[in-house]
Amino acid sequence: MSLNESQKLFERAQMSLAGGVSSHFRALDKPTPQFFEKAKGAYIWDVDGNKYLDFALSQGPMILGHSPSPVLKAVKQEMNRGLLFAGQHLPEIELAELFQKHVPCADLTRFSLTGSEATQTAIRVARAYTGKKKYIKFEGQYHGWFDSTLISVAPSKEIRGPLKSPNSVGMTKGQMESVLDEVIVLPWNNLAVLKRTIKERENEVAGIIMEPVMCNCGCIPPLPGYLEGVRELCDKKDIPLIFDEIITGFRCALGGAQAHFGVTPDMATFGKAMAAGFPISAICGKRKFMELIARGEVMHAGTFNSYNIGIAASLATIQLMSQNRQEVHRHIRKLGKSLMSGIRRIARKQKKPLLVQGLGPMFHVGFTSSKEVTSFRDCDNYDGARYGQLVSGMRERGVRLIGRGIWYVSAAHTEQHVEQTLALFEDALRNV
Ligand SMILES: Cc1ncc(COP(=O)(O)O)c(C=O)c1O
Repeated sequence: MSLNESQKLFERAQMSLAGGVSSHFRALDKPTPQFFEKAKGAYIWDVDGNKYLDFALSQGPMILGHSPSPVLKAVKQEMNRGLLFAGQHLPEIELAELFQKHVPCADLTRFSLTGSEATQTAIRVARAYTGKKKYIKFEGQYHGWFDSTLISVAPSKEIRGPLKSPNSVGMTKGQMESVLDEVIVLPWNNLAVLKRTIKERENEVAGIIMEPVMCNCGCIPPLPGYLEGVRELCDKKDIPLIFDEIITGFRCALGGAQAHFGVTPDMATFGKAMAAGFPISAICGKRKFMELIARGEVMHAGTFNSYNIGIAASLATIQLMSQNRQEVHRHIRKLGKSLMSGIRRIARKQKKPLLVQGLGPMFHVGFTSSKEVTSFRDCDNYDGARYGQLVSGMRERGVRLIGRGIWYVSAAHTEQHVEQTLALFEDALRNV
């Protein structure tokens, strides 16, 4: 399999595009950032003519597969009406009503474009509600690339500090150092440490934000009782609890992780899968929090907010997902679980130390002899280089995976795709 054309284009790109890419993480792709030509359903084609069965799904958004016809049809119709009014229009109400219907915490909603904006807004509301400054985030979790949130996402061993009271670590040059002081970083899935911190620092804590499944690091599910414990603590202390559902929203269930686990946060952010590939995000929450935005006390703005195309795409996506007793979610859950159990079976057969964790619609595969990974620092035991070999092996066999181990499943994948993938996986794993 050749990547010559991608390599050539990457060289050319570096002459005009900073670093040859438009997003930091894409520059990390090995052996070269790939250039793609088209994508449809479960497949994506690169400029070298290679066709891949795709489990990267554009980092999660393509929950209906690439270029889903019903969404494209809705978007084309909407384009005849207009692109952007920068004023109100009926479909944005309809979309907010769908949020009310499906997302447990969504008394009120606002729309933005990206996940980073939505999480930033949620933290702003939490600070405004409590009048306090610091928010708690968990080591290894990602809430976007803004100064205020790009903290302790993947801190190296030398600088990350003690396990139970990690340092607050920035991730980029140019990031304001003062933001590090405004965050309390804790290990996720450790209720005892959270309780102790709240007991000692309650007066400082404006809110708690978390990925309810730690998708950006190991796809780690919450331990039994953890989400419930955090919820109880937040209720007792009147601390706003924010679920960052940019990945889990509309993916692990129609109502997100909060519906799946039956734990309702005070606010939640959505993006990625909510519009099957079109850029739009949402912040929603219980009335007493979102009213701060409603009354104009907390600023939320954006020229492109509620643009026609994104709203139309999201309406079509959510309407499709709600059909036939949520057939889309039953399908991706079933296929995801088949893939997870198939990969475990193959690893056992080949006596390879592979750990598979997650919920099905998204899951993580990594080389480790650990039986379970429950927090960021457990991920130190993953052998990333070895997984990189597996990703290359799968690429050569026509399957596209994400290098950091997460797999996404879409409605366009079929049982035949699962069988085919497992056969290729068995072959690729033998050579790793
Ligand atoms: C959990 C989570 N929150 C926030 C973001 C930021 O979203 P965006 O890249 O749309 O700004 C991401 C992006 O991957 C994410 O995974």
